[in-house]
Order: sequence, then structure tokens, then C-alpha cells
Amino acid sequence: MNKSTLNWILETRNSAYCFGINDDGYLINSYWGKRKNEKTDYPLPIQKAGWASFDSSANVLPQEYPVYGGAFHHEPCLKITFVDGVRDLVLVYDSDWSSQNEIRIKLRDTYYPLQVILHYKTHANYDLIERWVEVINKGKEALTIERIFSAQWHFPEQQQYYLSHLSGKWGDEFHLIREALTSGVKVLESRRITSSHHHNPWFMIDAGNATETEGEVWFGALAWSGNWKLATEVTNFDMTRISMGINDWDFAWKLNGGEKLITPSAFAGYTQGGFGQASRSLHNFIRELVIPHGANPHKILYNSWEATFFDVDEISQTRLAEIAASMGVELFVLDDGWFYNRNSDHAGLGDWWPDPVKFPCGLQPLIQKVNHLGMDFGLWIEPEMVNPDSDLYRAHPDWILHFPTRERTLARNQCILNMALPVVQEYLIEKMDHLLKENNIAFIKWDMNRNVSEPGWLHPPGDPKEIWVRYVQGLYRVWGELRHRHPNVILQSCSGGGGRADVGILHLADQIWVSDNTKALDRLQIQHGFSMAYPAIIMEAWVTDADRGTLPLSFRFHVSMCGSLGIGGNLLHWSEEERNEAAYWISHYKSLREIIQLGDQYRLGYYATQYMSKDFQQGVLFVFNIGQPVQATSVKVRLQGLRPEAIYEIEGLNEVKSGLDWMLKDLVFPLELFESTVREIHQKNE
Ligand code: DGJ
Repeated sequence: MNKSTLNWILETRNSAYCFGINDDGYLINSYWGKRKNEKTDYPLPIQKAGWASFDSSANVLPQEYPVYGGAFHHEPCLKITFVDGVRDLVLVYDSDWSSQNEIRIKLRDTYYPLQVILHYKTHANYDLIERWVEVINKGKEALTIERIFSAQWHFPEQQQYYLSHLSGKWGDEFHLIREALTSGVKVLESRRITSSHHHNPWFMIDAGNATETEGEVWFGALAWSGNWKLATEVTNFDMTRISMGINDWDFAWKLNGGEKLITPSAFAGYTQGGFGQASRSLHNFIRELVIPHGANPHKILYNSWEATFFDVDEISQTRLAEIAASMGVELFVLDDGWFYNRNSDHAGLGDWWPDPVKFPCGLQPLIQKVNHLGMDFGLWIEPEMVNPDSDLYRAHPDWILHFPTRERTLARNQCILNMALPVVQEYLIEKMDHLLKENNIAFIKWDMNRNVSEPGWLHPPGDPKEIWVRYVQGLYRVWGELRHRHPNVILQSCSGGGGRADVGILHLADQIWVSDNTKALDRLQIQHGFSMAYPAIIMEAWVTDADRGTLPLSFRFHVSMCGSLGIGGNLLHWSEEERNEAAYWISHYKSLREIIQLGDQYRLGYYATQYMSKDFQQGVLFVFNIGQPVQATSVKVRLQGLRPEAIYEIEGLNEVKSGLDWMLKDLVFPLELFESTVREIHQKNE
């Protein structure tokens, strides 16, 4: 990192990000792209006059953190109303601080006692820049923040750009969309109090010439699990930028004198290695620096939800556990239905103790049996939720998000606890801590099965519209405290599948339950989209009964083996032949999972995925005939990610070639419709 006068250069392994203050005092992004040889090769912040009397310099400059004020008409990152009603910010440079991998730029308002600190941090090995912002009220009077984004990112001027993003709905998440950007603002967001199934806080930008394997790609993600906004803007001067942060929709934050507000982090990176390399940078970063246990591959789990739904008890679960263990499963997860009065989705949420009818002696006997069978035990919970038919609701109806004059909208017969309330946080910490202390639980699946309604509370400490942020802060506090007290427990984030998958929750969770849709063909698409942002290690994928009788068991296993393998079918109905075959694939997966979960992923299409170990010595290839083109009887793929000069052999192909030769050759796998194959890749020692 280098600074000459007021000009800063952040270099990562392959990229550079530069900004500085121009002669007019604007903090300008001056470069974001390929790393250059010399620091002097990077451009300095530009000057630019405005356009006629209608577009000021502020409008035509790539400002690092533009604010609402003066003659600025594009998307600002910060909007504040002061106590006297003034809604105009004038920030100027105050000072800066830097270390090996961090820069802080302190800005101050020219009139009001307000400081804004822009934080930058490089994650050099991942070609990523992390940005977040602190706003500090140094005065005595309160002010109101109406928008506070984490960052604005600028792309080189005057090009046609394409935005890739993920979109979907419950049971149909992570569709990859790539669209040309045109003049105006394209907003992706969540208004649902979670990061949501609808959009995911992630993007890629390219100039039209990127592929999976090459071309410039800019990419980023926001570490936030609540309402977020990503505004892609092409200005009237063909300047393209992305602003990202907490959603300003229905948002306001009262900042009293002496208080500060810190945004979540936004991460963004640059590569010349195409979409595939952009994904791998994020994958490595998430696995190595974000999730708590990224160095250890996950155990193969069995989850009883689709087998028994709410009809769980010690006997039914023990029978399933015995079969699962005999097949080689390592972790048995008891899903919904185990707690007090939970016989359907109409009652029970909130009362987090074992149902005395189903588990007369508590969970201990089942856990002991599961442990005795050689498996860890995992448990489903949905702590943020409460059914009106529960002791918790009857005792504390005011703990629910609501407006006193309005009906409380139910979804799946449940309400949402106000996680912003410290008393609710304490209650949940105490209850969940007790569960974890009393029982030998190695894994928690934390679910959330509805979106928000009536986001009100009775005595908010500041502006009632702070709820969106305070809810997530409360959620993070509860998760954080449980993590702290039980550091070895693996936490999984589930919100009816992939409704809360984001870099924010991944600081606390090791896994995501990606979708409630477990149909193998749909999963291939969902998993493909998910892999754009998130690594295979966090992608839990079950083989269920969804396609039983219509797709081969091997095909269903191969799809799930592309992530963190789990089983979710009703094993009591599986024939001996099916169980034996499952045992075979489970054992096969065990031999491959380090490559899949800890290695690098190469997408060869929806229908083929390859994983390589970090030392390029071993790999695994999955190929599926999904019926496109219609009546195809073979599938053609090209390998990626091999060391060009090293010699490799591919299982089942009687040839030994250099990595380069393999990567230049079309491999044709004869596969009937809905047939699939898994092939190991080995480097031969010279
Ligand atoms: C939704 C989850 O995604 C399912 O896997 C299951 O845990 C149900 N909730 C239980 O209610």
C-alpha cells in the first residue's frame, strides 16, 4: 500500500484499487483493475468540469462515497437530516491513517460536528477489498440518518456492462441472471428482514467479453443478513457504479450526540480470470476467512424431516438412526417436531424443551443411542419464531413484531419475535445455551420460515424504523454469544431453504441449507447459481425421495455429492439394494470430500462440475445428462484447472496426457438420459 500526498493505492495479488483527493477536494476513485508493475503506473484522481449548468462536477466524477448534498443527483451513499432540518452534507478530508493492509479516511462536515470514517482493507490473496463506514455524531444534538451504504464501486468509464445476479423464490432459489445495463438505476434488494430468497446480496459485472475461464470480472458481496440494497447505476455520462449497503427503504436511524453507527462490510474484487475465477476468489475467502470451521470438511448427515415431518419420537428416530449409521452416515439430525406441543405447524414454536409425550425422558436417550451408533447428533430450531399457540406467546405477546392497532399477520401460523429487544435476546440465549449444555449436540440447523410483516415495536430506543438494523444486530448477538459459548458446534443457516444465505451470517454459520427443493434436476440449476458466490463446503445437499422411482439413485447422489452430502429420504422405505448403493456412494464421497469441500471448483456448465485439490494433484469430475439437447446420448465437457505441464490420468479414460492436452480436448461421455458419472482425476508422478 502506498500513499503519495492524498492518493492511495491498494494492491492485491492481481489487482489494484486507487483513489485520492483531486484539486477540487473530491474523493475520487482513480483506478480499479489489473495490478501494474509500478505504483507510478496508476492514474491520479481526475479533475472534471461539470456539463452546462445542469450537471455539476459532483455528477460527472466517480466519487468514492458520494453524499446527499450540493448539486449531486445520482445515487448517494449517505443522507442525513440535522436537528435544524438541514438535509445537506458537505464532507471534506480531515485526516487519514494506514497500516499494511488497511486505510482509514476521516472526513468531516464543514459546519456540523459530524465525522465519517471510510474504512478500506485489502484481502490480498483473494483479490478483494473490504469497505465499511463509521458515522460519528460529535455534537450534542441528535441527527437522523436516512441512508447509509457501505460502499460505492466504480467501473472503468464508457463501456457497456453486464450485471450478473441471483434471483428466485422459495423452492426455486439462485437463478443466475445476466443482463445488459442501460441508463438508470437497477435495484436489487431485500425488504423482508432477511437477505431473502428473492435476490442475493452478491453481484458480478463484466464488459461483455468474459466467460467462465477468462475476461475481466468485477464482483462483490455484502455481509448483511437483513434488508439490503444494491443499486447499479448507469449515469447520463455512461459512468457505471454499484452502491451497496443496508436498505434505506423504510429506514431511519436517530444518532444521538456522542453515538456512532457502523455499516456492515461490503467486499468487492477484480479478476481477469472470468466468472470462474471470480467465484473461486470468493469461495476461498469465505472458506478461509469467513466461516468458523472452514478448514474441516463436514460430516455426512442424515436429516429426518422429509421422512417423518412432525411425527417424531424416540422410537421412529432411533430406527432411522440405525439404518443411517449402517449406511455410513456420521451425523444424525432431528428436525422440526421434537419440542413441546409441536405436532403440526400450528403450535409450539417458542417453547424450546422436549415434548414430554414424544420424548418422555428428554432428548438424552435418543442422543445416547445416536452417539452409540457412532454418529454425532444435530438438532433443528427456529428461535426467532413463535406460534400464538405457545406458552411463550401467551406470556409475552408484546415480544412480537407488531403494531398495536393492527392485526398480526401470520405466515405458517407464526409470528416473529422482536430480536431487537434485549430481553428477547437474553431469553433465546438462555434457552439455546441450556439445550446445548444439557445435550451432546454437535450441529444446529437454525431455521426461519416466514418473511416480515408489521415491523413495529412498542418502545423503540430511537427511530422506530431502526428495527430493520436492530433486528439483525440482535440476531448476530444471539448467534455470536452461542458461538462463543459453544465454539465447536456447527451452525447451519436455513430460512425455508436459501432465504438467509449471505456473507454476514456466514461469519457465524458454517453451512447453508440451500433450498427446500430437493429434486435433483432443479438442484443442478440451484447449485450452479449458488456456486457463483458460495463454496461447496457450505452447500448442504440431501438425497431425498423427491425423485425416487424417476431418477437413478446414482444420479441423485452425484448431484448431492457436488456439495456437502446429506441424506433426507425415508430410509425405512428404501430397499436393501438402495441402502447398499447409498452406502457405496457415501463411502465414495468420504474419499472425495476433501477435494470437493476444500478444493477449487470449476463450473463446466449446469451439467458438469469439476473440483481440484489445492495442490492440483487430485480432482473429481461430475457429468450429468440432463436431456439437453434433447435425445443426447453423450455429454461433452472440457476440463479446467489442471496444471498445464503436469501429467494426469482420468478415471475410465485409457490415456495419460499433460494437463494442457486434457484441457484442449473435448471429453465425450456416453450417457443415457438422466445418467451421470463421477470420475477421479489423478496427477501422475513424473
Ligand atoms: C423448512 C426447512 O427448510 C426444512 O428443511 C425443514 O426444516 C422445515 N422448515 C421444518 O419445519
